[in-house]
Amino acid sequence: MTLLFDNASQIVTCAGAPRARRGAEMRDLEVLTDAAVVVEGERIAAVGPRDAVRAAHPNATVVDCARRLLMPGLVDSHPHGIFGKPRHEEQELRGAGVGYMEIARRGGGIHSSVRDLRARSEDELFSLALPRLRRLAAHGTTTVEVKSGYGLSLDDELKSLRVIRRLQQALPLRLVPTFLGAHEIPLEYRAAPRTRGEYIALIVEQMLPQVAAEGLATFADIFCEPGVYTTDEARIILGAARRCGLQLKLHADELETAGAAELAAEIGATSADHLAAVSEAGIKALAESGTVATLLPGTMLFLGRPRQAPARALIDAGASVALASDFNPGTSPTVNFPLVLTLAVSQLHLSVSEAVVAATVNGAAAVGLAADTGQIAPGFSADLALYDIDDIRELPYWYGDHRCLATWVRGVPAHGVW
Ligand code: NIG
Ligand code: FE
Repeated sequence: MTLLFDNASQIVTCAGAPRARRGAEMRDLEVLTDAAVVVEGERIAAVGPRDAVRAAHPNATVVDCARRLLMPGLVDSHPHGIFGKPRHEEQELRGAGVGYMEIARRGGGIHSSVRDLRARSEDELFSLALPRLRRLAAHGTTTVEVKSGYGLSLDDELKSLRVIRRLQQALPLRLVPTFLGAHEIPLEYRAAPRTRGEYIALIVEQMLPQVAAEGLATFADIFCEPGVYTTDEARIILGAARRCGLQLKLHADELETAGAAELAAEIGATSADHLAAVSEAGIKALAESGTVATLLPGTMLFLGRPRQAPARALIDAGASVALASDFNPGTSPTVNFPLVLTLAVSQLHLSVSEAVVAATVNGAAAVGLAADTGQIAPGFSADLALYDIDDIRELPYWYGDHRCLATWVRGVPAHGVW
């Protein structure tokens, strides 16, 4: 089937090289008016001046965009979609001055979500995740990375990843599965008779080989942070992950500086995420590497932390910056990706063009899909979002609003009725 997307107020194409944009390249954003897009099956076939495109495709089914804005579907390269109950009690604790790591030391935080997830069946987790991913999609996200990481035992991590596999079949979204067995050291390995070394051995010797054998994940991720995993432990775990054929991601320098960004660059990780506490050396290492710096301003906002990641310094040094939601029950329970763009402009001091590129092209690069999605250009997957705005500068402007009217993934309607 051939679709012709016509009569948009603007078509933001993000067109350019099929790779992460870095530094000043992030400011180049192609915005077309009086243009149309042709979709043949799953892929974009043509983009160009309205009259010429219409004349060349007289039999296409017209999708009237009714003077709304069409852009690539957003690529959320860092949410944690598989969890049980919300953790609203921690929000009040933090408000009263108890920090994120202190809550974890008391057995809350990630440990609380682990206890909860372990008690739930695969079916139950699937039923909880499905509407949450639909809510992400409702704001214009068409590609969603989905992490395990609240199981922290062989069975519970596999259970989480199998839920992601079922979600891939049940939803029209593009889902990218990530194994995050190294999200925490589970409490039962933090005290005698068991040791953290035994848990790391479990990840390396049992979890990773089984995840790879069942083809359950594309990426492996780790929370590399003082009090959680050290950089030496990350080297061991990510080295094993790579040998199993997985691509690499790190939660890096989120709260305290630990050299995790430097490690990500050194080992050629696809992305280093968070970076609110990245050092000067870490910024330089990322700028000189192919690792995408993924920033999650919603997390620092929700945690009430005074310091956001040094986005300007990263871009000005020549790094590739992506934005993501970090959707999770502890530090960023938002499904609203356009709100993250608002934070990127107001808190990270990105221009609108930089924020849009960070949420599309560079998000796609952060999940290894820069040649497939994130652009409205011939050959790319027809992953599109239609917003009830006239001008792209309105996307971060109406903050917290819900302006997404419809999305298409691989040319098929994924959200909304249009
Ligand atoms: O990206 N920092 C580690 N992981 C998540 C938070 C997980 C949680 O608190 O449940 C994050 O912020
Ligand atoms: Fe995270």
